[in-house]
Amino acid sequence: MSFWAGKQENTFEHERDGSLNSVVWSREKMISRRSLFLSGTVAAMTAGTAIWVGNRPGKTNELALASRPRLSYPPLLDATRNSEFKLRAKYGTHAFGTGVESSTAGFDQSYLGPTVLLKQGETRARVENALNEDISVHWHGLMVSGDQDGGPHQPIAPGDSWSVDLNVNQQPSTLWYHSHSHRRTAVQVYHGLAGMMILTDGMDGERGLPNSYGTDDLALVFQDRRFGSDGKLSYDLGMMDLMHGFTGEVVTVNGQIDAVAMVPKGIARLRLLNGSNARIYELFIDDGRPMQLIATDGGYVPNPIELNGLTLSPGERAEVLIDFSDGNPITIYSRDDPNQGPAGMMGRVRGLYDTLFISSFPILSIAVDDRIPARVTKIPDELDGNSIVQDRESGRTRSLTLNMGMRRMMRSGQSEIPLFAINNKAYEIDKLNFSVPIGSTERWFIRSEMLSHPFHVHGTRFQVVSENGSDPRPEYAGWKDTVLVSGSVELKMSFDKPARPDKPFMFHCHILEHEDNGMMGQFSVG
Ligand code: C2O
Ligand code: CU
Ligand code: CU
Repeated sequence: MSFWAGKQENTFEHERDGSLNSVVWSREKMISRRSLFLSGTVAAMTAGTAIWVGNRPGKTNELALASRPRLSYPPLLDATRNSEFKLRAKYGTHAFGTGVESSTAGFDQSYLGPTVLLKQGETRARVENALNEDISVHWHGLMVSGDQDGGPHQPIAPGDSWSVDLNVNQQPSTLWYHSHSHRRTAVQVYHGLAGMMILTDGMDGERGLPNSYGTDDLALVFQDRRFGSDGKLSYDLGMMDLMHGFTGEVVTVNGQIDAVAMVPKGIARLRLLNGSNARIYELFIDDGRPMQLIATDGGYVPNPIELNGLTLSPGERAEVLIDFSDGNPITIYSRDDPNQGPAGMMGRVRGLYDTLFISSFPILSIAVDDRIPARVTKIPDELDGNSIVQDRESGRTRSLTLNMGMRRMMRSGQSEIPLFAINNKAYEIDKLNFSVPIGSTERWFIRSEMLSHPFHVHGTRFQVVSENGSDPRPEYAGWKDTVLVSGSVELKMSFDKPARPDKPFMFHCHILEHEDNGMMGQFSVG
């Protein structure tokens, strides 16, 4: 199985020094390794939460937060003034908080990249590649034509650069950019080739929304990572990791372990990006206070939606407001990934698993600093998010099944049945799967096999019409470009951006190991 065996698939050239161990994932190892890194109280708490059975976290203890590092935010790269920006991909070493430096890559910095602030209109982007392997940079959620999209058909060779004029014409939203190299997306994103983008119209003050970057408007990139016993970042992809997608036992936020965010005593806005390779988060707040959902992948919803829990699968973004006017600290938790563990491969017994082993782990603590002036003290009643009800008549329908399976796995040794596929075809970079007439609206029916798969489409945004035949979950009320498929979903979308057959748009599972290994397809629009 040449697609995953062999370290060249999993490591960067510059770190082939044999230091990557090939420890097989185990729950015990994960818990003890995790507690190694974390400071006193939190370590106990973290190890405890990983094995909680049917228990719920209580309240965040203010004193326990004092010894933990402050969360930092990616630097803001403001492209709204000159309508241009530049990113340079390079290697680096990064301290996640395990006590040692890890080999990583980033844009302009050692790990991850700056948050690019954009506005409508034409913006000139330039990406330089200082790595010694091909990369590409895709603007996830930006609706631009195929030749601006930065998918696997636009590789940037080592030492080369790519300049592109992005025609930005869509509502304010939280987006991201990440490498999208042919069969190397997972390893490159894992080591840091990703960053957030914020598309703004400068009107958030009028909307009554927090918009002071890093103060009451927080960019938060959630990524789980695995560290070897030496404390170094590791991507020791085994067969189980490939099947379930690669998850780590330690959650990082903006590349930091165990950090605490500070907010004013008022309303804070969290821009949540799941930049993980495979982990699905089911987020909730320890003291039970609600989150107000104000934006989905494609921008604002018409009115804030009160949520007690929020599912965020790889590639998805959500913006929420949280009220801190009581001055109390909180911790955001996630339930365990539904795709991992006993329930993963047997989705049907999920209900039983839920009641028997509700386990959760902390992601981020947020404390109030009342020296920071609170600019926003109430949740706005309405936003100017546009309706997702699409008035255009839909034309054709398409049915896509995200395939994977044991039978597939066992037979693929001898025959040509791909492990990961869509409609039984694994991605082939030189084969177009279909073409869509420009200006058309279609209904897509997506089905998942074996696991829950986050499904993403380039070059458009969609309305989630239904989920398993019912109304979609509340967090799918707005425009989306990535949706978690656990069973089936019906999507409605229009295609207004062209993509030539040689620079097509991708559709794929956003579990990056699945994507790289064939759960992807491509289409032209014209
Ligand atoms: Cu975020 Cu095709 O990807
Ligand atoms: Cu994308
Ligand atoms: Cu998948």
